[in-house]
Amino acid sequence: MDRDELKKRSAEAALAFVEDGMTVGVGTGSTVAFFIDGLARLKGRIEGAVSSSEQSTQRLRAHGIPVFDLNAVGPLQLYVDGADECDPRNRLIKGGGGALTREKIIASASERFVCIIDAAKQVPVLGTFPLPVEVIPMARSAVARAIHAQGGLPVWREGVVTDNGNWILDIHGLRIDDPVALESAYNQIPGVVTVGLFAARPADVVIVDGERRA
Ligand code: 5RP
Repeated sequence: MDRDELKKRSAEAALAFVEDGMTVGVGTGSTVAFFIDGLARLKGRIEGAVSSSEQSTQRLRAHGIPVFDLNAVGPLQLYVDGADECDPRNRLIKGGGGALTREKIIASASERFVCIIDAAKQVPVLGTFPLPVEVIPMARSAVARAIHAQGGLPVWREGVVTDNGNWILDIHGLRIDDPVALESAYNQIPGVVTVGLFAARPADVVIVDGERRA
């Protein structure tokens, strides 16, 4: 079975977490695109969605699903999003699609974070996928030097501007044995907006190839 079919199975399985009257937090990426398409079938039963990117907003609106500002709705019951890597303790690398900041905000504002992936994203230790870090543009070089001094190899994702008007560094060469500590360390560097490690607030539920992981 190809990876898109496995992503779609996970996205479809996540629809079981959607309850009547909910405003659903929606992530970004190709797996989430399948989730949005499935959510469209339930749109008469939900209030709407809070979106983590312009890309997801467009897809939600194309299906006629109302999109609300997070400020207007307060805490959410459910957030559904994909990931680039997932370790056995549900800690994630995210941000391959560049939406990490809004994704982390919505994840932290949600009671339950359901992560939808295909099995290729499961790893014993995070770090093979380059870790995205969103930075304020004027701080790019300074942040890169600070991360390099801590052992990472930053590569500027040149030409990419996030929905927040910022830039992204992808950090190569990491073996992340303590993701909570690294998330905290990078968060201390002036100019860092968001670290693509979701470790302090990991996923609550992970669905792999359509099956909920134990
Ligand atoms: C976007 C993300 C995505 O969840 C991540 O990149 C996975 O994407 P896909 O479902 O396309 O494999 O973090 O910022």
